[in-house]
Amino acid sequence: MINKCLFPVAGYGTRFLPATKSMPKEMLPVVNKPLVQYGVEEAIQAGMTTCAFVTGRGKRSIADHFDISYELEHQISGTGKEVYLESIRNVLDKGVFTMVRQREMKGLGHAILTGRSLIGNEPFGVLLSDDLCLNGEGDGVLAQMVALYNQFRCSIVAIQEVPEDEVHKYGVISGESMKEGIYRIDGMVEKPNKKDAPSNLAIIGRYILTPDIFEIIEETPPGANGEIQLTDALQTQAQRGCVMGYKFKGRRFDCGSVPGFVEATNFVYENVYDK
Ligand code: UTP
Repeated sequence: MINKCLFPVAGYGTRFLPATKSMPKEMLPVVNKPLVQYGVEEAIQAGMTTCAFVTGRGKRSIADHFDISYELEHQISGTGKEVYLESIRNVLDKGVFTMVRQREMKGLGHAILTGRSLIGNEPFGVLLSDDLCLNGEGDGVLAQMVALYNQFRCSIVAIQEVPEDEVHKYGVISGESMKEGIYRIDGMVEKPNKKDAPSNLAIIGRYILTPDIFEIIEETPPGANGEIQLTDALQTQAQRGCVMGYKFKGRRFDCGSVPGFVEATNFVYENVYDK
C-alpha cells in the first residue's frame, strides 16, 4: 500500500509574478478550486490519504486551506451556501495533512529530501500541483501509477510526448518500450537542448518513488540551474535498479505557465465545473 503523497510547494512561482508575490502559486484557482486541492483530491483517490507538504515562507494559506475555518463554517452552516464547502469538507474528512518547511529553495530534489521525515522508509507518491491532470470519470494519474507500481515495485515517472521545441523545459527520458505506454528507463536528462534530447518523452509532475531515492539525493550534486535535480537522482536510480516511465491516460495542463493555466481554466469551466 502506498498511503503517503509528498507535495513540494516551496517554489517561488516566478512565472506567475506579480500574482505570486505574496500568494502561493498552488493557491491559484482553476475556476473555483485552488490547484493544490485538485492535486490532493487526486492523491486521496489513489489511496494516499496522508498528504505531506514541503512548504516555504509565504505559504501559510496552503496549511489554512486544509484546516477547518470555524468562522466560515458557523456563518454558512444551515444556509444554501453549504454546497460550496462540500468538496473541501470531503477532503478534510478523508485526509491527514503534515508539513515541513524547506528553508532554502535548492531545487526539487532538495525539496523531496526535506520531506523525508514526513515519509519514512516506504514508497510514496509525489505530486507537483502546478501540473493539473484530469481524466474525466476515469482513474486519476496517481491511481493509474499505483496499479503499475504494484506490478513492477520500482520508481515510476509519468511521461508525455511533447513537441521537440519544448523538450528544454522538461526532464527527458530514454528507454526501452516494454509494452504500450510503459518504458524501462535507461537515461534521463534535465532540460536538454533540442539536439541533445534523447527523445520527446518528457517527465511531468507525478512520481512514485521508492525510499532509496533519499540516499541517492543526498549524494547528488547540484545540476541544471545549480539546483539539486530529482531527475539526476532518478538517473542514478535507473542505473542501479529500475525506473519505469508511464504514458498516463488523461490530459495534463502546465498551470505553472500562463498559457497552460488559461487553457486549464477554459477546459474546467466547459467540462468539469457544475454550472
Ligand atoms: P518549478 O520549476 O515549477 O519552480 O518547480 P517554481 O519556483 O514553482 O516556478 P517558477 O519556475 O519560478 O515559475 C517545480 C516544483 O517543485 C517545487 C515547486 O513548488 C514546484 O511545485 N519546488 C521547486 C520546491 O518545492 N522547492 C524548490 O527548491 C524548487
